[in-house]
Amino acid sequence: MGVYKPLDPRSQKPSSKTPGCFLSKPVCVWLVLGFLSLALLHLLCCSPAATQQAVLSPLRQYINSTYSFVASVPGEGNQQNCSYSEGRWVWAPGHAQRYNATECNVKERQDCIRNGRPDTGYLDWRWQPAGGCPLPAFDAGAFLAAVRGKHVAFIGDSMARNQAQSLICLLSAAFPYRLLHRDAGPQRHNFWGYAFPSHDVRVSYYWAPFLVRGKGKPEDDGIKENHVHLDAPGDRWGADADTIDVAVLAAGHWLLNGAIYYNGSEVIGTHNAPPEFSNHTKIGYAWPLHMAYRKAVERLSSGGRPRTVVLATFSPSHFEGRPIDSPTACTKMEPYKEGERELEWIFKEVRDVVYDEAELARARAAAAAGGATRIEVLDVTTLAAMRPDGHPSVYMNYHPFQHGVPEKMLSDCLHFCLPGPVDTFNEILVQILKKRRWNQ
Ligand SMILES: *[C@@H]1O[C@H](CO)[C@@H](O)[C@H](O)[C@H]1NC(C)=O
Ligand SMILES: *[C@@H]1O[C@H](CO)[C@@H](O)[C@H](O)[C@H]1NC(C)=O
Ligand SMILES: *[C@@H]1O[C@H](CO)[C@@H](O)[C@H](O)[C@H]1NC(C)=O
Ligand SMILES: *[C@@H]1O[C@H](CO)[C@@H](O)[C@H](O)[C@H]1NC(C)=O
Ligand SMILES: *[C@@H]1O[C@H](CO)[C@@H](O)[C@H](O)[C@H]1NC(C)=O
Repeated sequence: MGVYKPLDPRSQKPSSKTPGCFLSKPVCVWLVLGFLSLALLHLLCCSPAATQQAVLSPLRQYINSTYSFVASVPGEGNQQNCSYSEGRWVWAPGHAQRYNATECNVKERQDCIRNGRPDTGYLDWRWQPAGGCPLPAFDAGAFLAAVRGKHVAFIGDSMARNQAQSLICLLSAAFPYRLLHRDAGPQRHNFWGYAFPSHDVRVSYYWAPFLVRGKGKPEDDGIKENHVHLDAPGDRWGADADTIDVAVLAAGHWLLNGAIYYNGSEVIGTHNAPPEFSNHTKIGYAWPLHMAYRKAVERLSSGGRPRTVVLATFSPSHFEGRPIDSPTACTKMEPYKEGERELEWIFKEVRDVVYDEAELARARAAAAAGGATRIEVLDVTTLAAMRPDGHPSVYMNYHPFQHGVPEKMLSDCLHFCLPGPVDTFNEILVQILKKRRWNQ
């Protein structure tokens, strides 16, 4: 089928032309660079020292502020102030055919091509942010350079895992890697870590569906209710937090589902809990969600280690009221167009929780001595909401129609196929991570 294509940076340039230049973009860039060098040379040999200082200092600062010199040339994607959260999906044949998911160990249920999904149109789209900012295709070298020597950890629910596995696939298609650890058995997709020795980078995933400490359905579907401790970070990642430099947090689906919430040993309220807990205060989902993010960020702001904490927003599902066991629960073959479908208010509310917590955390980091924690929002809600076509649907199962067409069949309309739209989350993550130099 020829799905796997190695990264080819030449075929992944954004198509917009540099305004005011009739030559091809690379030629323009080199012309501009050449001109700059001549101007600099002139300055250095023929101007008084004070002028040199005045010119060179802002220039040096400008170069310092971005990772790669070429990327900082105006028009060639100076992403200092780009917002990637709103935009549209534009047709770009083959853009998302970047790796063979079977070779990078993704969860079988999201390996749609292996599972026999016959259409590939969902791989023919790229995200065009509003306002004309280009979103460059994923560049594994740029990612690894931006986190050189660091431990990058994804913490959260299965959407955090979806993104973490996408990142491993994108990186391992281009750079050598080594499995560091992986739990055995049913948790094998929930706790793992890889090393990328060329850049001394570690990428891990910690399953923490509530972010904070929790027990219940995520481990055992037979349990009726979830018990969630809003005063304690998740055990596994909490224990490793002092080794983490970059944390990407994503949660929400389980907290929307509901739980019995604790502070210490005291129940402080419930949401959507079984009747025998109805004597407790009903506290809804928004407040516990706030508290869960707050506790997680608090843990990641402690211990004096300078960190970048990226809060990913909610990635909504596309069941749209259809039953999960309907083979046609999500069979749309194209993205929604801009404005075709209004984002449901509940998804907006969950996204707002993340923005509120990010703002609060930034204020706290600024007030703290040193202010070492950098807080960023990775807003994927709109771009994910526009991709009903990118889910495994019935191809969460291996060749689902090999024995005919059953009346009932589980569909996954939440996670994304790998490769698929979730790779775009990481395209944006790279831009966030290289936006500023580590101020540490
Ligand atoms: C640029 O970075 C270098 C090394 O990181 C540093 O020594 C220098 O002071 C920086 N210059 C400016 C203008 O920020
Ligand atoms: C950056 O973007 C914000 C929000 O879109 C805008 O208000 C602000 O003026 C922009 N700043 C610069 C320097 O372009
Ligand atoms: C992906 O890799 C697997 C294992 O190496 C191989 O069997 C399969 O044919 C590959 N799929 C595609 C579409 O290339
Ligand atoms: C738990 O109780 C402590 C002590 O009373 C309080 O400071 C904290 O805010 C409470 N946490 C939550 C999530 O209610
Ligand atoms: C609510 O009911 C449970 C189980 O019957 C009991 O353990 C708990 O103490 C009750 N809580 C309140 C606040 O009455």
